[in-house]
Amino acid sequence: MSKPSRPRDLTDLPGVGPATAEKLLEAGFKTFEAIAVASPQELSAVTGLSVAAAQKIIAAAREALDIGFKTADEIYARRLKVAKLTTGSKNLDKLLGGGVETQTITEFYGEFGTGKTQLCHQLCVNVQLPREAGGLEGKALYIDSEGTFRPERIIAMARALNLDPQQALKNIIVARAFNTDHQMLLVEKAKELVPEQNVKLLVIDSITGHFRAEYPGREALAARQQKLNRHLHELSRLADAYELCVVATNQVMARPDMFFGDPTAAVGGHILAHAPGARVYLRKSKGEKRIARLVDSPYLPEGEVVFMITDEGVRDA
Ligand code: GTP
Ligand code: MG
Repeated sequence: MSKPSRPRDLTDLPGVGPATAEKLLEAGFKTFEAIAVASPQELSAVTGLSVAAAQKIIAAAREALDIGFKTADEIYARRLKVAKLTTGSKNLDKLLGGGVETQTITEFYGEFGTGKTQLCHQLCVNVQLPREAGGLEGKALYIDSEGTFRPERIIAMARALNLDPQQALKNIIVARAFNTDHQMLLVEKAKELVPEQNVKLLVIDSITGHFRAEYPGREALAARQQKLNRHLHELSRLADAYELCVVATNQVMARPDMFFGDPTAAVGGHILAHAPGARVYLRKSKGEKRIARLVDSPYLPEGEVVFMITDEGVRDA
């Protein structure tokens, strides 16, 4: 079943009267999608309803959106709606099965300087392109946890594609994340911004930095992974509900023996072991060249390609 396109009134949901609808709207729960992916606790907190009542409202929103069991043909129909965002390199696109996919999380992981942040910048520009040119005709939301977002790079990349640099900058909404809680809160806020602003790409660069800093060492590993999993789950639901690309970066060490104390820093270590999506391992090659390898894709063959980071941005080697 497809979603009706008519914007729906929250009071269409059983259990939501005008007063509750008002509270939900004020708290940013403006759509059925936002309610469907909320937790009963948060809805209860903003509406003053019991958790059980909030649970019923969430269930009703999910039902209305047809979230739950689906037949295989419905899943296939949804797969057909997956759109691909170009990376700027045809080879890298090919590795990803046509580009970075909507409805899922794509993880780029690798050592420092392998081009994770450059790729994120490039995708923020490319997402603005017309569909014929490999874009998604939408905006980008950039959650910057490392303070490495550079508007100058956006300008250079936009110019190289004959886009108006000022307009390109306007179409990228940037937020600094200062710690893990803040980072997760920004994803909460994103639920509001995404539909309002026609956001088609959500970047988190990097997704793991604050988690590593706040939960150092082996003892904290379980707690860290648990929280990170919650974060990934939220992101995954966001990607699914709003049909956007979620791109996360993750710095890993190539030499685990040089970085004892962090067991996830092993070669091939990645965050998405239990979340859906594509994982791309990046490593350096000569000069501007980088090697990308697709790892553990649910349905694409593993492989490796070479791309380049040039002054104009991400390109084929
Ligand atoms: P960490 O965040 O430290 O883990 O690294 P990263 O994987 O995000 O690396 P990043 O994307 O920042 O890549 C940095 C590399 O991109 C630099 O070492 C340069 O090789 C390249 N680069 C960055 N800006 C430019 C540029 O304007 N022109 C060219 N040609 N290369 C650039
Ligand atoms: Mg970086």
